[in-house]
Amino acid sequence: MAKLTPAAKKKLRARSRLVHLGRDAETSFGFVNIPPFRGSTVLYPDHATLKSRNQRYTYGTHGTPTTEALCEAWTSISGAAGAVLVPSGLAAIIVSFTTALSAGDHLLATDAAYQPARIYCDTILKRMGVETTYYDPAIGAGVEALMRPNTRAVFVEAPGSQSLDMQDVPAIAAVAKARGACVIMDNTWATPLFFSPHAHGVDLAVEAGTKYLSGHSDLLIGLVSANAQWFARVHRTVDALAIPPGPEDVFLALRGLRTMELRLREAERQGLALANWLKARPEVLRVIHPAMEEYPGHAIWRRDFSGSSGLFSIVLKPVSEQSVAAFLDDLQLFGMGYSWGGFESLVVPFDCSKYRTATRWAPGGPCLRFSLGLEDIDDLKEDLDRAFARLSATAG
Ligand SMILES: Cc1ncc(COP(=O)(O)O)c(C=O)c1O
Repeated sequence: MAKLTPAAKKKLRARSRLVHLGRDAETSFGFVNIPPFRGSTVLYPDHATLKSRNQRYTYGTHGTPTTEALCEAWTSISGAAGAVLVPSGLAAIIVSFTTALSAGDHLLATDAAYQPARIYCDTILKRMGVETTYYDPAIGAGVEALMRPNTRAVFVEAPGSQSLDMQDVPAIAAVAKARGACVIMDNTWATPLFFSPHAHGVDLAVEAGTKYLSGHSDLLIGLVSANAQWFARVHRTVDALAIPPGPEDVFLALRGLRTMELRLREAERQGLALANWLKARPEVLRVIHPAMEEYPGHAIWRRDFSGSSGLFSIVLKPVSEQSVAAFLDDLQLFGMGYSWGGFESLVVPFDCSKYRTATRWAPGGPCLRFSLGLEDIDDLKEDLDRAFARLSATAG
């Protein structure tokens, strides 16, 4: 078998890159997968090397062949200058904020941000002297009006958590960059396979690898990819914080990477099939799915994204909380629990009105978020059919 050179790997299409990046049979004694390197101490061959630290690996917190493999692959599929790993998606958001912000700075954050990120802004960042202003996710270039001389970062998430609000990332990035602010994006929903963050002006792109990269709901990991302007800075942050993910989790994330495209495409297919089925249900007021024409940000999604994942939301026609609970408790295949992007289907109720501050969330009925897994779609429909019958029975 001829060796695939790094230059030839770079030319491969995304799906082939996911299979071939971050592994080299020559250094793995012929085995296909790189093992989970465990270790704190790395030995130096002599005093001069110890003193200069001039060798590839220096200490467990600064990287191993396993972490390097995942970083290399993620950098390539993100179109980034480099990537770093941390133990969770939330840690990746926090590392990005820590990289871009200092005491006295101002952060602009989307009102549809993942709620625990808001909690970090409103508590620890605030205590550290960084002020956060939340903005309407639909603001686009209008974000200019909110920029202050000390605005050092703009945080976007497209589509946003739970309500899935679309954002015009290139328009926001253009304004932020003109003012010298760092553009940080939570790109977990699309992954770099469906949205190329750095090509759209993002400086630091966060991925909760816990979701589609893992794909099996059995690990937590976060990644931050960076463009050339920001990579050295985010690398310094993680080096100083010394918060690497565990070796087994990195190993499992690399395993997930190999099949991520297939799982994501299937989640997209399943998601769209179920979203369309739900749209026709009499109990459903509205389906919120970026790939559906009636979705308010559909034109932007179509312009900037190359796919939709398996996460979408619906608004039910007004019913009591008791009826929603009866519906959820009756489901046999849809699990109820947080996180998403795994092989199994999930559903959770949500209410953004409890924490939004820049916009009013008034959807007109109870909301549910679905994450579609790999079960047979007809079994999933039958499960929902039964639960809807229960909902109607309790609604009287
Ligand atoms: C959009 C988004 N970003 C970040 C996270 C955080 O990821 P983790 O659970 O790995 O901390 C989540 C988790 O649900 C999420 O939905």
